[in-house]
Amino acid sequence: MKLSGKVALVTGAASGLGLATAKALAEAGARVAGFDRDAERLQQLKSTLGDQALLVSVDVADEQSVATGVARTIDSFGALHVAVNCAGVADAAKTLSKGEPFPLATWNKVIGINLTGTFNVIRFAAQAMAKSVPEGNDGERGVIVNTASGAAWQGQIGQAAYSASKAGVMGLTLPIARDLAPLGIRVVTIAPGLFQTAMVAGMPDNVSQSIIDRMILYPTRMGQPAEFASLVRLIVENSYFNATTISLDAGARMQAR
Ligand SMILES: NC(=O)c1ccc[n+]([C@@H]2O[C@H](COP(=O)([O-])OP(=O)(O)OC[C@H]3O[C@@H](n4cnc5c(N)ncnc54)[C@H](O)[C@@H]3O)[C@@H](O)[C@H]2O)c1
Repeated sequence: MKLSGKVALVTGAASGLGLATAKALAEAGARVAGFDRDAERLQQLKSTLGDQALLVSVDVADEQSVATGVARTIDSFGALHVAVNCAGVADAAKTLSKGEPFPLATWNKVIGINLTGTFNVIRFAAQAMAKSVPEGNDGERGVIVNTASGAAWQGQIGQAAYSASKAGVMGLTLPIARDLAPLGIRVVTIAPGLFQTAMVAGMPDNVSQSIIDRMILYPTRMGQPAEFASLVRLIVENSYFNATTISLDAGARMQAR
């Protein structure tokens, strides 16, 4: 699908991978709606994402909030062609720590944002995309890109909730692609390795450096958000990507810690 003149929504657009993606899609000529629950940070991005960008305070885990965000996108731009799910959290805890079980509130938060939130955006985005005019010989109406993680199958100590949420995102990719194929909507998931964003800045330096030194094959550095964004752009522009999860991780093989 050509990006020029299209409408794209990006969640988690106030930071990291979502911010880089929103910028890249805007540079490629799309009109962008940036969703994030961090409304203050989002509004500071007005100049970065261009005057045309619509910036909406949305909590992806909240049904009404997502419905309103998608409706505002359609009101402003008249259609929706691309949806990129980047909103996420990485709260960690051990299954049993100092005799205490993993707090269920943490589990529910991580699953609620990363997995249910992704699905929540997909279903409202698909509803809007189904109304767009089919394009080209393939009759394409839309592209949905999700963000899983290498932790979906290589979770580290403390990542039970995070890994389960990301394995869930991988798992929903094929059945949703099958549901939406008759409408001309593709669904692709990216599984990033370690990327230099606020999420990773929260880790102690020795932990991220140890991942780089011991677990990343080549190049031995963190990924840059722009490298993630360029894959999103490629997925949108190359119509033969569908129903799959693509690793973007410099050959990383995560160990237990
Ligand atoms: N950075 C990495 O190394 C890495 C690796 C693998 C996967 N990921 C995934 O990539 C995605 C983006 O992460 P990032 O590294 O850019 O992190 P980040 O913390 O820089 O950005 C995440 C954004 O999501 C927003 N957000 C959180 N909860 C939200 C909610 N309920 N509703 C709306 N917005 C919400 C935050 O406000 C923030 O702006 C996440 O899904 C993360 O799990 C990141």
